[in-house]
Amino acid sequence: MKARFLTRIRLWSAAVLMATFSLTQAQDAGKGYELFDQNCTACHQVDGKLIGPELRNIEQRLKDEQGLGKEWLYAWIKDNKALRESGDAYANKIYAEYNNTEMLAFPGLSDGDIDNLLAYTADPDGGKAAYDAAKAEKEAADKAAKDAAKSNGGGASTGIVAVGFVVLAALLLWILVRVNALVNATAANELDPTVAKTAKSFSETFEKYKKVAGLAVGVLAFVGLFNIYWGMMGVGVDKGYEPEQPIYFSHKVHAGIQGIDCQYCHSSAKYGKVSGIPSTNVCMNCHKSIKEYKGEYFEEELVASGKFADGNEVKKFYTGEIQKMYKAIGWNPETNKYEGTQKPIEWVRIHNMPDFVYFSHAQHVVAGEQAILKAIKEGTIPNAAELNIGGGDQVCFACHGRVDEMNEVRMANDFTMGWCVECHRTTEVDMDNGYNKEYYAELHEKLKKQYGDATKVTVDAIGGLECGKCHY
Ligand code: HEC
Ligand code: HEC
Ligand code: HEC
Ligand code: HEC
Ligand code: HEC
Ligand code: HEC
Repeated sequence: MKARFLTRIRLWSAAVLMATFSLTQAQDAGKGYELFDQNCTACHQVDGKLIGPELRNIEQRLKDEQGLGKEWLYAWIKDNKALRESGDAYANKIYAEYNNTEMLAFPGLSDGDIDNLLAYTADPDGGKAAYDAAKAEKEAADKAAKDAAKSNGGGASTGIVAVGFVVLAALLLWILVRVNALVNATAANELDPTVAKTAKSFSETFEKYKKVAGLAVGVLAFVGLFNIYWGMMGVGVDKGYEPEQPIYFSHKVHAGIQGIDCQYCHSSAKYGKVSGIPSTNVCMNCHKSIKEYKGEYFEEELVASGKFADGNEVKKFYTGEIQKMYKAIGWNPETNKYEGTQKPIEWVRIHNMPDFVYFSHAQHVVAGEQAILKAIKEGTIPNAAELNIGGGDQVCFACHGRVDEMNEVRMANDFTMGWCVECHRTTEVDMDNGYNKEYYAELHEKLKKQYGDATKVTVDAIGGLECGKCHY
């Protein structure tokens, strides 16, 4: 009897907890602001049309004008194309009204996320205020944590190295000054008594510190040789390669701040051997109407380096780059027509495997997707912690790094054979995807019999180290 009473209390309190939880979730307009800012502002505003319709009070508006409920909004925002293809009348009508402009799909947003988004569109000012308050709180907490970490003496080892170099440099300088004095002294025909004393004291001191000097020379020689060695090891390794592009196109602005999906632009990654660079038509989906840069973000480095006087100059530069793109492709933003010759932009290729290597994106971002996401989660690939940010773009980060934080793309890994092979050795294959299930069922059974259920099948076990798989 007593036990049942207790269970009941537990159940009730759990229910109350869950109710308050979902309540606070449903009404977090601050989170909604953040989601809207990251995902929707490339095409929507709260007030006024942009590429898509204005979204203030969209939930209420669709209910009043079209009799559509929240379910419709969930379906539309997650995958508008699927909704249209299901024959939904309003979805097709609004699509036609906007000249068949495709909205992005957001399969990564949950119902809760969309509730937050809608709460924001119902009360944009409140949402922004809530976001700012939460951000200020978080920054204060981060700062406190950072200060605490600092006083714990992080970075001591780099400190020691730096001090070592300073001491070494001082020692060499001192020797140089001494030698110089000696040379001067011998150059003067007659050594006056003080100089003679200096010369004598130098040779004495030199005798005394010969070992130290020897050691210093030894260390320097070692550092030099080590650098040469790494230089040679690095032949053909282009990690960090970051060429200048004909248009200053920032991935941080597009993929990071605007949150545009990698595959919106690199759409062939899924299907083909190559990801490909988007054609200018893709750019013009948005830039027919985005003619100026009006964002808050600018690269502070460009001001700090003295390239631009202040943030406004950097923003003007961004706008100038949009204009440069129009010029390059023959678009007249005044008349909204192509008037010049329509040419492709000649982007400089950054990643380029030699002809004798076969690499397929589809193999990795489709068949290997779950395997790679798991490797990131479990930290078995380099830098996994900083890549683990959720969302589908992560699979690209595994090889290309945090492109969403790069203004100009640079090579984030070595892209050598050793790098490919290392990942194949450590990454567990996703045996549940359709392809592997069919092709490796027998192998999997065999391994299970031999080693038991817990065996990890890594890529090397399915032939990922065979020369012929990567070389023609
Ligand atoms: C790449 C541009 C683009 C992005 C990004 C985008 N949309 Fe859209 N959206 C559109 C366009 C264009 C339409 C008009 C319908 C069409 O052409 O498909 C639209 C229509 C809508 C509608 C229907 C509005 C109405 O009046 O019926 C809603 C709701 C909507 N979008 C929500 C969102 C939300 C929420 C986000 C962010 C999570 C978002 N959209 C991101 C382009 C975009
Ligand atoms: C708005 C379109 C757009 C989006 C979104 C986008 N990219 Fe790009 N990407 C480009 C363009 C244009 C280039 C060529 C210019 C350059 O290298 O910056 C490029 C170049 C690249 C390159 C270098 C290609 C080479 O030459 O080897 C990589 C890697 C890349 N993108 C990865 C990504 C990843 C990962 C994401 C998602 C986080 C992403 N891109 C999102 C347009 C886009
Ligand atoms: C889905 C919409 C979308 C697509 C596609 C798109 N852009 Fe943008 N672009 C934007 C938005 C939004 C901004 C920022 C505008 C702002 O904040 O006022 C922007 C800013 C820019 C800027 C100025 C900032 C910077 O990155 O230097 C340039 C240049 C630019 N885009 C070029 C391109 C090029 C080239 C392509 C095609 C490879 C492209 N964009 C594709 C939406 C898009
Ligand atoms: C397993 C590692 C790996 C993953 C995961 C990966 N890439 Fe790549 N990517 C490469 C390699 C290797 C190249 C060079 C290919 C070549 O030269 O043939 C490349 C080249 C590119 C290029 C240059 C153009 C081209 O196709 O050669 C772009 C753009 C690109 N990747 C974008 C992406 C995007 C977007 C994603 C996520 C959807 C992604 N990559 C995921 C390894 C990877
Ligand atoms: C981040 C980890 C990672 C990196 C880096 C990587 N791969 Fe892979 N690779 C995988 C995974 C996971 C699979 C298994 C995909 C599947 O399930 O079919 C795979 C499969 C393959 C296969 C098919 C193997 C088979 O037996 O079917 C080839 C070929 C391949 N990779 C080539 C390359 C090349 C070339 C590079 C370097 C340029 C590379 N990979 C870099 C993770 C990686
Ligand atoms: C997982 C993919 C992969 C496998 C398996 C693989 N290779 Fe490679 N190999 C590469 C890549 C990628 C390069 C190009 C590296 C570069 O350009 O830096 C390469 C380069 C080479 C080179 C040229 C080296 C150079 O310095 O230019 C030789 C030779 C070679 N591989 C032989 C082999 C042999 C032999 C095997 C089988 C034992 C093998 N490879 C297996 C991916 C692979």
